[in-house]
Formats: sequence, C-alpha cells, structure tokens
Amino acid sequence: MKLIAIALCLLALSSAKLWKNQMEDDKLFETEENSNVFWYDQRLDHFNPQQEGTFKQRYYDIDQYWDPETGPLFLYICGEGTCRQPADNSFVVNLAKKFNGRVLALEHRFYGETQPTEDWSTENLRFLTPDQGLADLAQFATEKSREFSEKHGIPHRRWICVGGSYPGALSAWFRYKYPHVAFASLSSSGVVKAIADYHEYDEQVFFSTSKSGSECPERFIKAHKYIESIVNSDNRIEAFKTFGYDKDMVDGEFYYFIGDLVAGPAQYGGRTDFCNGLMAVEDDMDQIIEYLVNFAKQGGMNLETYTAEFTANTTIDYSKNMRQWTYQTCANLGYFQTPAKAEGVPPMRPANIELDFWEDFCERTFGINIFPDADHWNSRYGAKTPAATKIIFTNGGEDPWQHASVTETDNPHLIPIVIDCDDCAHCVDLHGDFPTDAPELTEARSRIADIFEKWIQDEYTMEKTFPSEAMANLRELLSK
Ligand SMILES: *[C@@H]1O[C@H](CO)[C@@H](O)[C@H](O)[C@H]1NC(C)=O
Repeated sequence: MKLIAIALCLLALSSAKLWKNQMEDDKLFETEENSNVFWYDQRLDHFNPQQEGTFKQRYYDIDQYWDPETGPLFLYICGEGTCRQPADNSFVVNLAKKFNGRVLALEHRFYGETQPTEDWSTENLRFLTPDQGLADLAQFATEKSREFSEKHGIPHRRWICVGGSYPGALSAWFRYKYPHVAFASLSSSGVVKAIADYHEYDEQVFFSTSKSGSECPERFIKAHKYIESIVNSDNRIEAFKTFGYDKDMVDGEFYYFIGDLVAGPAQYGGRTDFCNGLMAVEDDMDQIIEYLVNFAKQGGMNLETYTAEFTANTTIDYSKNMRQWTYQTCANLGYFQTPAKAEGVPPMRPANIELDFWEDFCERTFGINIFPDADHWNSRYGAKTPAATKIIFTNGGEDPWQHASVTETDNPHLIPIVIDCDDCAHCVDLHGDFPTDAPELTEARSRIADIFEKWIQDEYTMEKTFPSEAMANLRELLSK
C-alpha cells in the first residue's frame, strides 16, 4: 500500500495517504478469525427522504469486558480502509478493560466489505461523504444504545467515540454534531481542517527527518533532484522502470510516489530506521537509489497505484481504497500534498506537483471537474475551532498530518496533547502498549485515561437524573 494515507491510522502507507500500512495494522488489529463480526441495516441516504435504499454495514462488537451497569460504550470509528477488529492490547480495548466498557467498531461506507452500491462509478460515489458517514454512526449508535437499554434495563447511554486520522476527524465532528449521542471524544491525529494546498505536510517531513541530522533530508533531496533530471531526459521510462512500472506515466504521479518514499516513514513512525539506512549507504547516487528502491519494495509500495488510470477503475475490490479516498479528497477534504513553501524549508518532493496537477488528477480519475472548496467545508465543521467540549486531540510530534489537526486552542473544553518523542507519529497513541514505548507516549495514554475517568463520572451522575432516551437529550444542555 502507499504511504499516503491519512487515514487509516495505519492504513495508508501508500501515499502517505491517510491510511496505514500492514505493519501498523498488525499492531492495531485482530486477525479475521478472532473477530466478532456483525452486519447492520443502514440507510443509503440520510438526507433525502425520497431515497429509500439500504445497505449492510459491517461492525465488530467486543463485549467480553463489559459490565452493563457501570461500563461505558466506546464507538471505534473506522475510516478510509477495511475495518478490522481492534486488537486486545490496542488502546481502545485497554480503555474498555480499565472501565469495564464495550467497544463497537463500525466500518465506513464504501470501504472494506461495506459496499452500498454495485460499483464505484462517480455517480454512485455521491453517497460517499463525511456527512453520510457521521449520520451512519448516529443511526447505528442510537439504535444500539436503545437495544442495550432495553435488554439490560440500564439508562439510555451516550457514547465515547474514538478514531484516528480521517476517523479522528470524524470522532471530533461526531461529538460536535451529535452531542446527544456522544458525550466525549478522542480524536487521534484528527485532520479536522480541510486544506487544498497542504504544503505544511511536506514541510513537516523535512523537520521530522532533520531530527536524524541534516544529512538525512539532504541525501533525499539530492536523490529526488537526480530522479527529476532523469524524468526530464530522453530516458524517462528508465526512472519509472527502476521503481517497478514499465509504462510511461504523468510526471506528477511519479513524483507523488517519490515524495511518499520519505513521507511514509515520517508519517508512520519509521523515521529513525529510514534515515539510519539512508545514511549508512555510501554517498553515491546509485547506492542511494538502490536503497530507495529496496525500501519501496519492502514497504509494499506499488507505483501503478499512483496513476489516475488505476484510481479511475470503478470495479469494487474489497482490498482497495485508493479510488474512494481520492474521491473524498477531491470532493470535500483536499489535503493535497504539495512541495514545501515555507521560507528556508527545502521541498522534500519535486517542484511541479502543485494544485494544477491535483485538479487534473481528480478530473482524470472521476471524469468530471471536481475539486474541494476547503472554506466551505470548514465553515460547516469549524476546522480547528469547533464550538465543542470534551474532545481530546492527540498528535504525534513527527506526524506531517498534525497541521490539519488541533495542537493548541483557546477553548478550555478542548484538550490538545502533542506527543513529542522519537518516531512518535500518526495515531501513535491508538497502538497497543509496547515495552519500547517512549515515556511521553505512556504518559499521554495515562493522561487520556484520567480525563476519561472524570468525564465518565460526570456522565453517570447525569444519567442517574435523566435515564431515558428522551431525557438523554437534556443531559448535554444541563452539563454546561
Ligand atoms: C479494475 O479492478 C478490478 C478489481 O480489482 C480488476 O480485476 C481489473 O483488472 C481492473 N481493470 C483494469 C482495466 O485494470
């Protein structure tokens, strides 16, 4: 997969897209055999009463630690990739153990096996929006809470939502838009600000790799300039071939891949290993390129998946998420990774992947002119300044996505935590506990747990006074 992703915390190695790579997946999720899988009948369109279609939405239910009397409900939000059951030592399950809670994880529409339409035509993808995804969560969580209330004779319970990357944004937006359904949120690497020209990403890749010494970014910059010179020569196909693709392609697509070679490690907490490896080879261009080629191979990066030809394919394939995620970026969210623009910061990718490349990429992928209006989106969701309460925003100090998230705020009801340590990057707090974890990470997790403990107490006090579903809606107002 590519490095890109944003999203899956762990999903996207591919393009430093939001999702994560396999290595991260293994730290976060159960194997398929150990999973408790269920299906929920969901509305296709929450905003059009004339559209009556439904689809099957996959979810996981981890109920073995739950005490119905005292245990909170955790809504684990999946995003731009296949949803897998959170592992027994992942942070959300550790929270469930600590508080005797229950965790339900809902797969996002159009990803993994949750496929509402028969193909991914551009027309069908109109049902793929964060608004629909949030309404799916509201519908699902409300009905589950009602079911638990009836079955166990407990108050109608609100949820704590948890998510990382794009689901981190959803987690914050959900608490903001549906406070009668969720009373608190953990937004890990939550990219709540839509940004079309996201050059801060590339800038952070420079800052993060510089932690290994200036030679690391310098060698990479030398390499990408060299690669660019080959692309501009008569031998351009050789450049693509070197990285495993033997047809011609658009320059920007290739440069996106080249940028991901270094962005991936910075995003996924592999910066130290990547830089150490890069600096260990001789300072000779052939050796540096060979190192990068091997690095891409080991990470499972596939150059073909960076082409619009690949993302234009409308056939559903459970293992793919590039077309759907690209749609979300082209339609609503942006986050297009362009070269650094800040003064004194050298770009970590070739210079010409600017917005016009991305506009063209969206058009070639979807066959229509579609490009995000970030201001419009941000006016609806509040970007970095939502008028909300009880949201914890965590970010890894090396994560290039942190500039689309909340790392500081004037709102005393929002709690930003920047986890600043070596190789602490995208969604780092959501992973399982490991003996090698930095003290800053361990401390952040225990701080989050302490804050949740207090918020859960507040909620239970309120629940005793207003136990029914109708009265649940009053809780939020009265808790201010
Ligand atoms: C489109 O995607 C499907 C599913 O992954 C694949 O089987 C098919 O070969 C692809 N078509 C083209 C033209 O690449």
